[in-house]
Amino acid sequence: MSSIDQSGTFKLGDRTVKRLGYGAMQLAGPGVFGPPKDHGAALAVLREAVASGVNHIDTSDFYGPHVTNRLIREALHPYPGDLVLVTKIGARRGGDGSWLPAFSPEELTQAVHDNLRNLGLDVLELVNLRAMFDAHHPAEGSLEAPLTVLAGLQRQGLVRHIGLSHVTPTQIAEGRRICEIVCVQNYYNLAQRADDALVDELARDGIAYVPYFPLGGFNPLQSSTLSDVAARLGATPMQVALAWLLRRAPNILLIPGTSSVAHLQENLAAAGCALPDDAARELDSIASIGSA
Ligand SMILES: NC(=O)c1ccc[n+]([C@@H]2O[C@H](COP(=O)([O-])OP(=O)(O)OC[C@H]3O[C@@H](n4cnc5c(N)ncnc54)[C@H](OP(=O)(O)O)[C@@H]3O)[C@@H](O)[C@H]2O)c1
Repeated sequence: MSSIDQSGTFKLGDRTVKRLGYGAMQLAGPGVFGPPKDHGAALAVLREAVASGVNHIDTSDFYGPHVTNRLIREALHPYPGDLVLVTKIGARRGGDGSWLPAFSPEELTQAVHDNLRNLGLDVLELVNLRAMFDAHHPAEGSLEAPLTVLAGLQRQGLVRHIGLSHVTPTQIAEGRRICEIVCVQNYYNLAQRADDALVDELARDGIAYVPYFPLGGFNPLQSSTLSDVAARLGATPMQVALAWLLRRAPNILLIPGTSSVAHLQENLAAAGCALPDDAARELDSIASIGSA
């Protein structure tokens, strides 16, 4: 059994994926805007991910924009049969790199077609609708109109499955009344535990929870407790942060992002990092449970 297989598997829509995957956002240029510093290095990260057994890659056409999807296509097309590419729509980029809402029927339809074209696919396996009422914090607001548009694109056969991102429990409940929601992608990690109850609720319903910023995002997690536990276990802090998430709930699927092959290999090796109970309890003390 290779190391990544030790992460286990979970059903994402009707596809089974390994619980340790890869998030491609970091492959675009600084601020997720423009081309990567090193095109060849970005392709190498994607190829190494798949060669190591990754079969779940998270992306969006608004990374770059278009950059990340085109890198994925160049590196990996024709795609291995078991590879699940998950994308998201609902935002667009301003000329200065700003993140703007793109929720009109025309923008959502265009986004699905942009993803199809840039990834080189006839159908998108899973599309997350990314709420943009507030770009930085989940904020209430009805998703009925955009989700109805996305469900229409699903009926046309352009999209197989639908998920939600950056959303509140109220929005998830609203979404589940409109169409089947197979995953939720929200900000969550060892230190950001506002979604604790939601993770458990979705686990009970067999819905995947895919934490974004699993390593802390643009400012990777730093904690003396995390470093101490990692040193004791002979692992790195990033590996322990991922191992904690794998242990946290069976419906958690990981998409750590990196632009470096060395970091990718380090992160994938977290699948083999077993956390003893006392280490998990110690790591729990880092959390600001209930705060966003
Ligand atoms: N739905 C949403 O709103 C949303 C928002 C943000 C992200 N996402 C998705 O979530 C994925 C993960 O988020 P993310 O990539 O922003 O954050 P992340 O996985 O928490 O962390 C990425 C950061 O950690 C660094 N890093 C990665 N592995 C490392 C290691 N082993 N040691 C030291 N540093 C390491 C990376 O730098 P290096 O490149 O130098 O390794 C990068 O700065 C994204 O790729 C994207 O697909 C979704």
